[in-house]
Amino acid sequence: MWVSSIRVVAVGFALGWKARAQDIDYAQFVNPFIGSEGGIPGYSYGGGDIFVGGAVPFGMVKLGIDTFELPVNQSALNGGWTPKGKVTGISLMHESGTGGGAKYGFPAQMPLTMIEAPVNLLDNETYCQGRVGDDVATVGYFRTQLQSGVAVELSASRHAGLYQYSFPSTGEKHILVDFSHYLPHLTRSWDSQFYAGGEIEFQPNTSVYTGYTSIAGGWNIGPPVTVFVCAEFDTPPDSAKAFKGKNTFPVSRHFRTFNNATIPQPTYTGTKAQAGGLNDRVGAIFSWNGTANETTTIKSRVGISFMSVEKACAYKDDELAAWSIKDTAQAARDEWNRDVFSKIHVDTSEAANKTRLALLYSSLYFMHLIPSERIHENPLWESDEPYWDDFYTMWDLFRNQVSLWHLIQPAYYESMIRSLIDMFKHEGFLPDGRSGNYNGLVQGGSNADNVLADAYVKGLRGKINWTEGYAAVKKNAEVLPFFDENPIDPQGSLKDGRSALDDWIPLGYVSADRNSRAVSKTVEYSLNDFAVSQIAAGEEAGDQDLYLRRSAGWQLSWDPEASSRGFKGFVMPRYANGTFHKTYNITNCGNCNWEDESYEGTAFEYSFVVPHDIARVISLMGGPSHFERRLDYVFQPNTSGVDLGANGYGITTINNIANEPDFQTPYLYNYLNKQHKSVHRSRQLANDFFTTATNGIPGNSDAGALNCWLIWQMLGLYPVVTTPVYLLESPWFEDVNVTVNHNRTLRIRAEGLDDGDGKEGFYVQGVSINGVEWDRNWFEHGDAGGIMSEGGEIVFRLGEERRVWESGREPPSPGHRVVDVGEGGGY
Ligand SMILES: *[C@@H]1O[C@H](CO)[C@@H](O)[C@H](O)[C@H]1NC(C)=O
Ligand SMILES: *[C@@H]1O[C@H](CO)[C@@H](O)[C@H](O)[C@H]1NC(C)=O
Ligand SMILES: *[C@@H]1O[C@H](CO)[C@@H](O)[C@H](O)[C@H]1NC(C)=O
Ligand SMILES: *[C@@H]1O[C@H](CO)[C@@H](O)[C@H](O)[C@H]1NC(C)=O
Ligand SMILES: *[C@@H]1O[C@H](CO)[C@@H](O)[C@H](O)[C@H]1NC(C)=O
Ligand SMILES: *[C@@H]1O[C@H](CO)[C@@H](O)[C@H](O)[C@H]1NC(C)=O
Ligand SMILES: *[C@@H]1O[C@H](CO)[C@@H](O)[C@H](O)[C@H]1NC(C)=O
Ligand SMILES: *[C@@H]1O[C@H](CO)[C@@H](O)[C@H](O)[C@H]1NC(C)=O
Ligand SMILES: *[C@@H]1O[C@H](CO)[C@@H](O)[C@H](O)[C@H]1NC(C)=O
Ligand SMILES: *[C@@H]1O[C@H](CO)[C@@H](O)[C@H](O)[C@H]1NC(C)=O
Ligand SMILES: *[C@@H]1O[C@H](CO)[C@@H](O)[C@H](O)[C@H]1NC(C)=O
Ligand SMILES: *[C@@H]1O[C@H](CO)[C@@H](O)[C@H](O)[C@H]1NC(C)=O
Repeated sequence: MWVSSIRVVAVGFALGWKARAQDIDYAQFVNPFIGSEGGIPGYSYGGGDIFVGGAVPFGMVKLGIDTFELPVNQSALNGGWTPKGKVTGISLMHESGTGGGAKYGFPAQMPLTMIEAPVNLLDNETYCQGRVGDDVATVGYFRTQLQSGVAVELSASRHAGLYQYSFPSTGEKHILVDFSHYLPHLTRSWDSQFYAGGEIEFQPNTSVYTGYTSIAGGWNIGPPVTVFVCAEFDTPPDSAKAFKGKNTFPVSRHFRTFNNATIPQPTYTGTKAQAGGLNDRVGAIFSWNGTANETTTIKSRVGISFMSVEKACAYKDDELAAWSIKDTAQAARDEWNRDVFSKIHVDTSEAANKTRLALLYSSLYFMHLIPSERIHENPLWESDEPYWDDFYTMWDLFRNQVSLWHLIQPAYYESMIRSLIDMFKHEGFLPDGRSGNYNGLVQGGSNADNVLADAYVKGLRGKINWTEGYAAVKKNAEVLPFFDENPIDPQGSLKDGRSALDDWIPLGYVSADRNSRAVSKTVEYSLNDFAVSQIAAGEEAGDQDLYLRRSAGWQLSWDPEASSRGFKGFVMPRYANGTFHKTYNITNCGNCNWEDESYEGTAFEYSFVVPHDIARVISLMGGPSHFERRLDYVFQPNTSGVDLGANGYGITTINNIANEPDFQTPYLYNYLNKQHKSVHRSRQLANDFFTTATNGIPGNSDAGALNCWLIWQMLGLYPVVTTPVYLLESPWFEDVNVTVNHNRTLRIRAEGLDDGDGKEGFYVQGVSINGVEWDRNWFEHGDAGGIMSEGGEIVFRLGEERRVWESGREPPSPGHRVVDVGEGGGY
């Protein structure tokens, strides 16, 4: 049980959550507020942008409050919840952990205790509500107390949400339904959402309203998302009035509004309201008269569907038949325990370290909120393949999150990959990001290639058609995507594919004069082509060498002369004529954004981000000792040349563990057979930047990518994406049972972690895998009789002594190629 201020109170036990007798209630350890606050106490800016509310794993419905928090420069509304924001609506769809423009926050309800002037139902500022005391959130359940005296409790099933409003026993009771409500962008940016129309209708004297809302835009500036709604109140309202009003939202030219006109008063339209030709806002107000006790609590169950009102009604009826918040929350909690938390079992007894349990199970929670499973909810084409949405984004997920889903969620993961390939078949490209049934934004490469390759090399087959999977990644590697005219990138598509292929194919690198983000695109395209070669090896062997060759393109962008902070040789912006941008600032990428030469990372950082050929990185950096010195340097405090502001949350090192490109860098000491240094660095980063507090992750959670980094750290493993390799690190628990491949057990033990004197010995002294003494600091998915698919046991012997315990080969560089870059000594 956690409340928003992180006072741990006994409310949860009073609510009586329980697990089925034989099972463990891991959900009790989850703090759903981790990441809800940023570096500035009381504000969401720079925090995790997480969703807080009721949801099942990968649920289509994520029911939570939408808030408005001032000042806008310290606010981030992406997940809906903010620490001190006023509630403007309570809606069924949310993202979790996303940056950029907010997406979703619809369809909504809002309880009101007055509707006469000064309240204007079309003006959220006249009715939005502050909150009193601390919100309560547990897995599958949320409660807040509004200033108006109304308590709101929420829970959700897969396609429906249950609201329970407790109104003060005296006073008015109304519920507003505003189909033009959505999460706004407080600074009116190019990636704001906007209302594109809707319709609401109810029969006289029934408790049911139906309709749809269409909202467009948001971070991937997608076309309108139409959601059908079917909602019901448990107590019939005494009066109900539909209304409409002139649309005064300040938005783009693409939809009709009276931009900047005064907000009008609603016009009541009986039992039905339609947006019509002028794109009017539509909604309805439902009111209950009595002060009798039975009307004090009003519940509403709401189903949504992308297909039809009928489907939305069926979800509401089937999934929320009992109308019970408690039962719905318990069912959600059971599902989380069964399908997510129990997959990684550690000692949960009284003696266990509760902080670690909170870190582990909360991290698992946050990495299972999105993408959203929308099987049978694809409005775009008919297919027998599953359908998913809200991939935010492959750029984030490919680093290590998909590799954990592969192990512990093989069914969901196979379904996701089939869905990705089906998108390619019907829309032409795999998504890099996707939300609102629309591809975008591509930040660098076509990183679904990495995702597919990671699954492929680890043997995921099932019902995936890899002939088509290979065709999908090959298209990314060969076909320049259609230019989508996104206002932030005049040079190429941000929707899908690789916008700089017209540089990459002829030049072998992405040039800085013809393209934005040349440094990071070059690094990413290299790994993408390596990924393509990995699938080609099994599907189209004749292609393998071509893509392996292309995967060395990053070396063409390597300037052996470039120097910074006493180090020589970096990936640098290179022009189409072959010269380098010599004065480029290696430690400072400026805004590090769409229009810059490197995206969300400096040349200093990206020079390490070549997981398929670390051996070549080592030699280009001047050999092992120079490489090690440089690696040591990026973890020194006060070395960063970029002001990360509240977004970096105290990070002053060049290595920015708050962002995905640097996720693997702390583990690179394994490639020097100095694994103890990887353990040292990565533990320190985990301890410094990951806590159970509301600001306990160092930036946007990015759909759980940050949380997942921590899980691998706690398991003592790190996957090298697009390859079957796992680096051995140092586990945080003495005994972990991980359910892999549906029903096999991977057991990870740490002997000597706690030697009884209270001091932890977490340096590795030796490792055995399935009883075989292991002399390498890495292993492959299929090693030791298929340890990661058939299960088995990895035993770490830990102690306080830092030692080089590994004597075998360093981790492989399966994409190793040498391109002569003219480097010549003098490091
Ligand atoms: C409040 O409503 C106005 C339109 O009246 C809209 O522009 C704004 O984004 C809304 N604010 C919030 C926080 O939803
Ligand atoms: C937001 O603006 C206020 C007032 O201008 C300023 O004091 C504050 O530092 C700003 N916060 C951030 C995070 O920039
Ligand atoms: C609704 O029900 C009330 C009471 O049963 C009845 O008086 C009224 O006529 C009904 N209104 C409509 C529009 O059917
Ligand atoms: C919007 O209206 C306000 C008040 O009438 C006015 O000051 C402002 O200049 C207008 N802005 C635009 C962009 O028309
Ligand atoms: C409820 O209040 C409305 C408006 O005051 C009134 O028209 C209606 O008759 C009342 N209904 C009941 C059942 O008291
Ligand atoms: C209303 O609830 C109060 C407190 O639970 C109870 O004392 C009272 O008898 C109830 N009144 C009615 C009309 O049910
Ligand atoms: C892991 O599984 C083994 C074999 O069933 C069992 O002996 C051990 O107690 C389990 N460890 C934990 C932490 O549950
Ligand atoms: C529990 O784990 C946390 C996080 O790793 C650590 O800081 C703390 O020292 C541990 N507590 C004990 C008693 O070992
Ligand atoms: C896989 O896809 C290819 C190309 O669409 C098709 O020819 C083949 O029949 C499919 N294989 C299976 C097993 O469905
Ligand atoms: C190469 O291209 C860059 C960028 O357009 C330009 O500044 C530079 O002068 C060119 N150098 C040569 C040698 O053409
Ligand atoms: C690069 O940026 C850093 C940090 O902003 C600055 O200190 C340094 O002077 C810059 N270097 C060059 C060569 O401009
Ligand atoms: C393990 O799961 C797989 C895949 O669902 C299934 O085919 C197999 O029968 C299961 N084996 C056992 C022992 O339950």
